[in-house]
Amino acid sequence: MSQQFQHDVLVIGSGAAGLSLALNLPSHLRIAVLSKGDLANGSTFWAQGGVAAVLDDTDTVQSHVEDTLNAGGGLCHEDAVRFTVEHSREAIEWLIEQGVPFTRDEHHGVDDGGFEFHLTREGGHSHRRIIHAADATGAAIFTTLLAQARQRPNIELLEQRVAVDLITERRLGLPGERCLGAYVLNRNSGEVDTFGARFTVLATGGAAKVYLYTSNPDGACGDGIAMAWRAGCRVANLEFNQFHPTCLYHPQAKSFLITEALRGEGALLRLPNGERFMPRFDPREELAPRDIVARAIDHEMKRLGVDCVYLDITHKPADFIKSHFPTVYERCLTFGIDITRQPIPVVPAAHYTCGGVVVDDRGHTDVPGLYAIGETSFTGLHGANRMASNSLLECFVYGRAAAADIRAHLEQINMPSALPCWDASQVTDSDEDVIIAHNWDELRRFMWDYVGIVRTSKRLQRAEHRVRLLLDEIDEFYSNYKVSRDLIELRNLAQVAELMIRSAMQRKESRGLHYTLDYPGMLPEAKDTILSPV
Ligand code: FUM
Repeated sequence: MSQQFQHDVLVIGSGAAGLSLALNLPSHLRIAVLSKGDLANGSTFWAQGGVAAVLDDTDTVQSHVEDTLNAGGGLCHEDAVRFTVEHSREAIEWLIEQGVPFTRDEHHGVDDGGFEFHLTREGGHSHRRIIHAADATGAAIFTTLLAQARQRPNIELLEQRVAVDLITERRLGLPGERCLGAYVLNRNSGEVDTFGARFTVLATGGAAKVYLYTSNPDGACGDGIAMAWRAGCRVANLEFNQFHPTCLYHPQAKSFLITEALRGEGALLRLPNGERFMPRFDPREELAPRDIVARAIDHEMKRLGVDCVYLDITHKPADFIKSHFPTVYERCLTFGIDITRQPIPVVPAAHYTCGGVVVDDRGHTDVPGLYAIGETSFTGLHGANRMASNSLLECFVYGRAAAADIRAHLEQINMPSALPCWDASQVTDSDEDVIIAHNWDELRRFMWDYVGIVRTSKRLQRAEHRVRLLLDEIDEFYSNYKVSRDLIELRNLAQVAELMIRSAMQRKESRGLHYTLDYPGMLPEAKDTILSPV
């Protein structure tokens, strides 16, 4: 039997953004935080690098703003950048208050109540400003915030819950546009439950799973972006997909990132013959922004016909490597690579979705009552290329801002009255799940081949043709069969892929992460690609 629930705030997604928002809401509110699988399965847990923030006395807001604008290829919204950076210190102080065990250091640090924290460097940053917990920052933050959330009786953490679609007044044929909650598949019961809420928050992360090779965990399917689009929200700049330059290249190493902080601490990129190549591409060498480094690697791999390049930190003392990068050290060792003595084979892989659901500085989407925060959203912070470690910062700053906005509007919004249940009367159990698996593979492969690091108009047309065929097939499947996690994710991923392709086709230039051989130059005017649902 499907069930009906009512909460003051429904948070779809249990990563850095969703948990920050939930923890910044008053304790008298009933809050549900949904996770598609186990709570720790999201991208936050896997983040290695850290959080960019202005913490050192020699650093300034202006410098962090300028670095972000430079990395963003002329497309960052300066007001969003300034808003985020100006709130960076208080976001970090809040995390420290929650108990996040950031790495301490006597040499490069910030004075915080007598403790000093180590700050590392990453591409595009002109200062050491990345606060981190060794090379497992996401895990440290997630574990701490989750422990805090577990202590709050008003926060229900619900695992194995996959949001199918948002419930809006428009969808129900009621006057108004407000979001009233969501239909959610309970994977334990197999039923689709109805969650009514006064405020609904999308914090579902990005869509890097649209590509065959990605650093992201399996759930990064663009669920929030697709649901918001179907509910009537605008999306922006979805052509800007960031490829992380250095993921481990090994047949058994699925999605393992080699943090950019290695390059921040001096690691060098080398060709198979040991030669360095980044000085030929950018004066900032290994610390150029990610779009430049990923394209340089892609170029060299294609030029030489090699499967990978190498990241070499062997010139640093072994103790330094092991204490700063214990996760990378241990993981590589399981594949027989001792990073204190051997260079690491690396390739670029899809990492971050710079575009998303259009929001303002409080996380409001176009649909009243619906917020989007974190990687799901488009705030204007990242422009055409996100600077490393600005993304976790965005999660905390906007998670806290959206919570403040909900607090300010509590009195004005009532609980929605009983909502109609999910109608499964017209569907049956699927007897052809192979179609879902096949479509997943096909989608991810053609996105990698045709909408990857280097694009052409012809490749984009091919991708557009294929995604339309897939969308039709998926729609038919969705109308006839009971929903499963795989089907819901495939439907969302195909929708977001279509939006990415459409956005890429509209951009007749190369800028930041969007590079096309047909338009290699940059237009004089920087414009967002904004798509509106009809
Ligand atoms: O390289 C990294 O550790 C990733 C950082 C980021 O994506 O911000």
